[in-house]
Amino acid sequence: MKIVLLGPPGSGKGTQALRLTKAHGLASLSTGDMLRAAVRAGTPVGREADATMKRGELVPDEVVVAIIGERLTQADCARGFILDGFPRTVAQALALDGMLAKAGQKLTKVIEFKVNEAALVARISGRFNCVKCDAAYHETNNRPKRDGVCDRCGGTTFTRRPDDNAQAIKVRLDAYRKQTAPLLPYYRKKGLLMAVDAMADIDKVTKEIEGALAA
Ligand code: AP5
Repeated sequence: MKIVLLGPPGSGKGTQALRLTKAHGLASLSTGDMLRAAVRAGTPVGREADATMKRGELVPDEVVVAIIGERLTQADCARGFILDGFPRTVAQALALDGMLAKAGQKLTKVIEFKVNEAALVARISGRFNCVKCDAAYHETNNRPKRDGVCDRCGGTTFTRRPDDNAQAIKVRLDAYRKQTAPLLPYYRKKGLLMAVDAMADIDKVTKEIEGALAA
C-alpha cells in the first residue's frame, strides 16, 4: 500500500500514521518529522528550514521533494509507505507522481482528514511530543499509556513544538487552505480520494481509515 494522509495541521495525520504503519508494516514518511530531525541535527537543510517552520510557512518544494525522493529509495519503502504531510502543494504532488511512475508504482489511496477548524487550535495547543521520536500526544485526548513514557520508543522526555503557538497556527492553517487544499480536487479527479471524519475519537478514525483502505 502507498498511502497519502491529507489534512490540516492538528487533524490527526501523525497519530493515525503511527497506528497504520504498525498495523500494516509500512514505512512512515513524515516530512515534518524529517525536517525537525534535520533542524535538531543542524544540517544545511535544517538550518535553512528552521525559521520558515517556526513562522508556520511551507519549506520550498525543491527541499522537501529532494528529501522524499531520497527516502523513497530506501529498502523499507519497498513494502509500502504512508506519506504524512507530503505532498502539500500541487508541484509536490506532480513531483511525487513522477518519482513513482519512474519506479513503476502508483498511489493506492489518499485519505482526507475532514475537520472543524475551530477544534484544531485546541488539539494543537494541548499537544506534546516525544523528544526522541516526535510521536504526538495530547494533555487530555491522547496521553501515553504509561505516564511519562513514549508508547513508540520508550523515550521519557517530552517537548512542545515551536510552531504550536497562536501566530504560527494561523499561518499554517492559511497555508493549508491556499497551498494544500487544491490537492483535494487533484486527487479526487484521479479517483484516489477517500474522506474520513477526523472529528471522531482516535479509535473511530482508525476504524474508518481501515474501512476506506479495504474498500
Ligand atoms: P508537520 O509536522 O507536517 O505538521 P502539520 O501538517 O502542521 O500537522 P501536525 O503535525 O501539526 O498535525 P497532525 O495532523 O499530524 O496531527 P497530530 O496527529 O499531531 O509540518 C510542520 C512544518 O514543517 C510545516 O508547517 C512546514 O513548515 C514544514 N513542512 C512539513 N512538510 C512539508 C511539505 N511537504 N512541504 C513544505 N513544508 C513542509 O494530532 C494533533 C493533536 O491532536 C495531538 O495532540 C493528538 O494527540 C491529538 N489528536 C489526534 N487525533 C485526535 C482525535 N481524533 N481526537 C482528539 N485529539 C486527537
